[in-house]
Amino acid sequence: MTQSAQQFVTPLTFQALSGHPVHCQLLDHEQEQAMSHIHLARWADCLIIAPATANRLAKMAHGIADDLLSTLYLAAECQVWVAPAMNQAMWHKPVTQHNISLLQQHGVKLIGPARGEQACGETGFGRMSEPTDICRLLLQTDQPGPLQGVRVLITAGPTREPLDPVRFISNRSSGKMGYALAAAATRAGAEVTLISGPVNLPTPPVHKLLPVETALNMYDAVMTEVAGHDIYIGCAAVADYRPAQPEARKIKKSAGKADSTITLAKNPDIVATVASLPDKPFTVGFAAETHDLEHYAQGKLRDKHLDMIAANQVGSSEGGFDSDRNALQVFWPTGSQTLTMTGKSELAEQLLHLITEKYHEKNPTEAA
Ligand code: C5P
Repeated sequence: MTQSAQQFVTPLTFQALSGHPVHCQLLDHEQEQAMSHIHLARWADCLIIAPATANRLAKMAHGIADDLLSTLYLAAECQVWVAPAMNQAMWHKPVTQHNISLLQQHGVKLIGPARGEQACGETGFGRMSEPTDICRLLLQTDQPGPLQGVRVLITAGPTREPLDPVRFISNRSSGKMGYALAAAATRAGAEVTLISGPVNLPTPPVHKLLPVETALNMYDAVMTEVAGHDIYIGCAAVADYRPAQPEARKIKKSAGKADSTITLAKNPDIVATVASLPDKPFTVGFAAETHDLEHYAQGKLRDKHLDMIAANQVGSSEGGFDSDRNALQVFWPTGSQTLTMTGKSELAEQLLHLITEKYHEKNPTEAA
């Protein structure tokens, strides 16, 4: 958001309504660490400036870079769109028209402006195109996403391991990270199959959603679906053990018995099984650890023969299972990267970007 935009709407409102972080300043220490203007420019598939004022267009046309947005524009190598919004006389002014034609020569695409009633009470050209029209135009671009034609299988959420018909053992996984990854993969053009344990989340835009309950259900669903998928992301918090013999009837508390013991049986390791398939997809696992994060994550990467593992600290600090935010340390056999604390939707975008990069490095002929 520019200074002027913040006069109309506060960044907090924008953040709350969109569920995404809002970037405002060129030199903000926290944001510079997480995602500088250069990083933002690299991250974006497309940059849309809406509304674009006469002043903004003039700055862009002449390469002035004195705030986050103008700097971002200069650093962007993706397709840039502008949706002008200004008074009709300002729009018709020769200098504005000259700036527009300069921008078009520089490859910037124009959406609108529309004709109609303006905020100042006048009528004419200069009104910003309707947001739905802007979105439709952006989605119509025929640029294929980086995962176009790639099939991605994702597991998400917890599993429930029944003790009897009314009780189960489970964990605190909310499924938010897996669902955010599924949405990000769909946005990147992938055909996504999502196998989900019980969660309380809206269905994301995926090709196929398969709800499951137990680790064994999830194992069966994954083994049925995995053939033909190019990438497998095991984001689910699968229970390692299940009650060996769930009771058919509700277990009663017995009077004189102070303690009770449950015998557990080991569940199959789904991600390790996928990674051992002869025609294995690019396989990504997760590791949630309370201590020695890197040590355990590297061990799992190696022992489960994964292509990548995303590790996060759980238990004490911010982020993790039931949170909207998280941070990840990502490891692959030849390197690692830290993704700093941010919203899970944004984090999923960053992780998916990394997965896409490493997937295409490993499968160069299938690169989009
Ligand atoms: O060994 P640990 O359970 O910590 O490993 C976590 C990773 O393994 C996650 O990617 C999780 O989805 C996967 N996993 C699995 N099947 C299990 C247990 C864990 O796929 N039975």
